[in-house]
Amino acid sequence: MCGIVGYIGKKQAAPIVLDGLSKLEYRGYDSAGIAVFDGKEIVTKKAAGRLAVLENLTHNGENMPGFSGIGHTRWATHGAPSDLNAHPHSNGAGTIVVVHNGIIENYMALKNKLVKKGYEFSSETDTEVLAHLLDYYYDGNPLQTITKVLHRVEGSYALGILFADHPDELYAARKNSPLIVGCSEDGCFIASDVPAILKYTRNVYYLDNQEIARLTADDVKFYTVDEEEIEKQLVTVDWDANAAEKAGYEFFMLKEIYEEPKTVTDTISPRIRNGEIVIEELGLTDEELKAINRIHIVACGSAYHVGVTAKYVIEGMLRIPVEVDLASEFRYRDPILSPEDLVIVVSQSGETADTLEAVRESKARGIKVLAIVNVVGSSIAREADSVFYTWAGPEISVATTKAYSAQLVAFYLLTMKLGRVRGVIDDRRFAKLLEDLQALPDQIELMLGQKEKIQHFANRYVAARSVFFIGRGIDYAIGLEGSLKLKEISYIHSEAYAAGELKHGTISLIEPGTLVVAVATQPELFAKTVSNIKEVKSRGAFVMAIAERGRKEIEKEADYVLYIPFTDPFFANSLAIIPLQLFAYYVSVGKGYDVDHPRNLAKSVTVE
Ligand code: AGP
Repeated sequence: MCGIVGYIGKKQAAPIVLDGLSKLEYRGYDSAGIAVFDGKEIVTKKAAGRLAVLENLTHNGENMPGFSGIGHTRWATHGAPSDLNAHPHSNGAGTIVVVHNGIIENYMALKNKLVKKGYEFSSETDTEVLAHLLDYYYDGNPLQTITKVLHRVEGSYALGILFADHPDELYAARKNSPLIVGCSEDGCFIASDVPAILKYTRNVYYLDNQEIARLTADDVKFYTVDEEEIEKQLVTVDWDANAAEKAGYEFFMLKEIYEEPKTVTDTISPRIRNGEIVIEELGLTDEELKAINRIHIVACGSAYHVGVTAKYVIEGMLRIPVEVDLASEFRYRDPILSPEDLVIVVSQSGETADTLEAVRESKARGIKVLAIVNVVGSSIAREADSVFYTWAGPEISVATTKAYSAQLVAFYLLTMKLGRVRGVIDDRRFAKLLEDLQALPDQIELMLGQKEKIQHFANRYVAARSVFFIGRGIDYAIGLEGSLKLKEISYIHSEAYAAGELKHGTISLIEPGTLVVAVATQPELFAKTVSNIKEVKSRGAFVMAIAERGRKEIEKEADYVLYIPFTDPFFANSLAIIPLQLFAYYVSVGKGYDVDHPRNLAKSVTVE
């Protein structure tokens, strides 16, 4: 995933573009570039490395005068991070310049044709093909040229384009990669995501697939790929501008961990009225809810781990069969779906390509799709049949925390709603569940109160080579997420294992001093997990355990124990995950890493 920003207006473009890019670095940051029309020609500067390198190169944009510009921060797909592969890319004469987020899937075929026609390429990117193809078709009419090119390319794109002989215009186009357009009294903007332009305008248009925008300093017009002008709805973004800032925390990740109590409250509260659960946006009648025979949960990464938890919760509470699929597997395994099934996709960004394709695959088969999404107006939100928004606000750090917690409680609410409609949760049980659910925010605060203790423990494992997470049932799902958090921001190898499975091979990797995190919050499985702790202890492991308050007997077996407050076992993930998020955070900080921008990663993977 990459970040795109463009501006055309009365102010100097470069500083605005660079400022916008700084709000999008979470989308990718292995190189960055900017192009500005300086009154005579389009000047392009770009560099491998973080945005700061480009800011230094351009003196924060001061040495790039001009009133229209486009910029890009990259997460490499085709061609390693380098000055040459950094965007923007241009035609040979430098008169057409483009930035791109997405993948042109037929770029090689197009490139071969262009090479035969004498075009020379300087980069390994698919994007440069677009620049030369625009050149090939260019007849002085940018809109006509763009539509011709878009009819030729296959794949996904969000584009910003400048034409040197049309200096008062900036063009944008979109297919499957997000792109918004906004205007203020100072000019008009394009951006991959809201934080980039929030300080200038809250009124934005979401470009839909195969739509083109022509921006001038004063307004914007929209067209289809058949050059028909269209009207689009203006959306007012009600995000708090500070929410996209660090607010004094060293990294967004810690800020977002500390926002989890509020996030959980904001996700739960609007859906509880007069002691009942009301999910207006569910888009399913009570009859339809009763008719559901099977649920397929489809997601990637941490969102998938939420799905694993939800399987235990839904099956445990409602006895509805649940299948959980990695989206990248679901879309290619020709899934067996029935008309009474419900597909639930989970995605923080709402732009994950594999998950978006799972939505399309399900809808193509006539199956209802409910999306649990955090970003309003995102592609998945717009293409699903109904959307359950997790009101977590903008999540900037690549490693998800608060959105993960919001997704968990979204499933608790859905399960309880389903249980009430289907008559499988009686009043007494429901009242207790509601009490436990509404207690979670305060209990998360309690878990956050153990920060220093966890930080102290984490400092001892900064040099760890491998860490294992074990658990049974929901505890296994908790271990999956704890392991991913550690891996993705500290680069320490880690594995999560169903505790009962470890002895079938992987226990051979346990040696003296190996850290094993044992999650033991499930009362019915506690004794079994304790016996697994004994197994790894007998092979020299150091065991950190997470257990339910009061389970003191675990201290006889584990070396270090953290307790979670009493809650319904189905909700335990919401509490046990907090110390694991903090553990990963402090190990990464202890290693001196940029926690918010882990190597090789991006906040949302909008490519396959
Ligand atoms: C989570 O910490 C990771 N950054 C990653 O696994 C993420 O959960 C996954 O890419 C799915 O993203 P989404 O929720 O935006 O679809």
